[in-house]
Amino acid sequence: MCHLRRVKSTPPGTTVVTRPTAPDAAESAAPEPGGDPRWWRDAVVYQVYVRSFADANDDGTGDLAGVLDRLPYLHDLGVDALWFSPWYPSPLADMGYDVADYRSIDPAFGTLEQAEQLITAARALGIRTIIDIVPNHVSNEHPWFVDALAAPSGSPERERFWFRPGLGLEGELAPNGWQSIFGGSAWTRTTDADGAPGEWYLHLFAPEQPDLNWEHADVWLEHEDVLRFWFDRGVAGVRIDSAALLVKDPALPEETPDGDNPFTDREQLHEIYRGWRAIADSYSEPRILVGEVWLPDPVRFARYLRPDELHTAFNFDFLACPWDAARMRTSITEALAAHAPVDAPATWVLSNHDVTRPVTRYGRADTSFAFESKRAGSPTDLELGTRRARAAALLAMALPGSMYVYQGEELGLPEVEDIPDDRRKDPMWHRSGGVDPGRDGCRIPIPWAGDRAPYGFSGPGADGPWLDPPDDWAPLTVAVQSASEDSMLALYRAGLRLRRAAPWSQDAALSWIAAGDPVLAFERGESFACFVNFGPDPVELPPGATVLISSSDLEGGALPQDTTVWLSQAKGQVPLGDTSS
Ligand code: GLC
Repeated sequence: MCHLRRVKSTPPGTTVVTRPTAPDAAESAAPEPGGDPRWWRDAVVYQVYVRSFADANDDGTGDLAGVLDRLPYLHDLGVDALWFSPWYPSPLADMGYDVADYRSIDPAFGTLEQAEQLITAARALGIRTIIDIVPNHVSNEHPWFVDALAAPSGSPERERFWFRPGLGLEGELAPNGWQSIFGGSAWTRTTDADGAPGEWYLHLFAPEQPDLNWEHADVWLEHEDVLRFWFDRGVAGVRIDSAALLVKDPALPEETPDGDNPFTDREQLHEIYRGWRAIADSYSEPRILVGEVWLPDPVRFARYLRPDELHTAFNFDFLACPWDAARMRTSITEALAAHAPVDAPATWVLSNHDVTRPVTRYGRADTSFAFESKRAGSPTDLELGTRRARAAALLAMALPGSMYVYQGEELGLPEVEDIPDDRRKDPMWHRSGGVDPGRDGCRIPIPWAGDRAPYGFSGPGADGPWLDPPDDWAPLTVAVQSASEDSMLALYRAGLRLRRAAPWSQDAALSWIAAGDPVLAFERGESFACFVNFGPDPVELPPGATVLISSSDLEGGALPQDTTVWLSQAKGQVPLGDTSS
């Protein structure tokens, strides 16, 4: 017998509205931080891309004052921490991931004093601050690189980077064949003081992002000092950019298909992160380290999460996974299995500032994500994509571990795919000669209110925003969505409120319920269950269970396609392993 029968037809007139009522302020309030040193294990972290969040000084660029103004919004949403994409001075060759000074704030965003104010004000609302650290490279305008370029070949200034003579008779060929992640060679040739062509330097990303040499003691000491600089200012943790790329094989050999990769996942990285962990742990309230680690092998990935290394790392496999029950189940199972031996919580990520927005992705025929083929312009059904993104959000919120929400995800913003070429900023677009659509489409300013662009992102009469929001975003504004209990925003608020209140949201393990192929179902704790129906036929839910929330309306008590439901039910009410019907 199985309580999860497929329902072939929906009983007439029985739509069940299952959304909970709006949270009241007291219920949604985040608890004061301070107490729980394990807060990060199940935290909800909201990624703020400052440039596009809120523009308080009407210059078309989001800023820290804008974030400060909107803290109540973030508090109501129910997040535990904010992760700020780089807020440092930058010439913007890679929208801030080219850092010119790691100890101050980009004047377009505000001042160091404002950052400190923001950290304190967020903290007073129970929200911690995580900042982005970019240790693989600096901006070409960073003083170290400026000095290195001005200094001759073989000088100590150049040793902090990877300068090498070129190959070929005249040094006209790059020192090796490594390719930049943004396209083209990973090497750029310099010009000597006398105007003659000089050495080459390595940049795994844009030429304006020279790679640091982590064989050099200065590079270690500088980063340890930068960590302390921000930890001393109340920052609760750091997100480590390109965390698996810092260390290179100093012989700079070519990449081979089978051997160790000369610039990815090298052993010495673990020594670096052990040193950082010791610094993080030296604070009375230990700081946390979150790695951006793109590695296909979950076991290699988990090595970064050993108890004396990073606390967590982004689970990109889940993000890239197509909307498919079996694939999702495999992704979740593998992530949990890889994390278990190192006792680290998994993270659940659906989007960030680098990837196609979920509502667009999930509305396409191929719903997976890959950097190599972003499928820009391939048709998408936004209604379907939104329905699935809602289901994916409740799924992510129900899984054990921490969750990341990228600004605008909670509004169901689509990818903007028709940005005029002359407005595009992303080096991925430029360096690929326009073949890669780049990442501007997920970085459009947040629509807050009003009928017309920029929808309250800046005030009336402000300079135009740095990227233009589309003309049809009025229904997506925070103001409109706040007034509707059917909106994506209402779903995120309600889901996060329930998650925060639920005992299972702490470390309760997940046990799968065998519910048949197109249904993903699991239990956590004593009485919580989550069901996601990926298949076309509505699925009857276990009798007697209480519906806590669903991503779309149930149909006469049955779970329709592309819908997630959370249930409160007696543990084991759905017999594990029972797939008969
Ligand atoms: C990371 C960032 C991305 C940036 C790159 C280089 O992947 O998320 O935005 O372009 O590193 O710093």
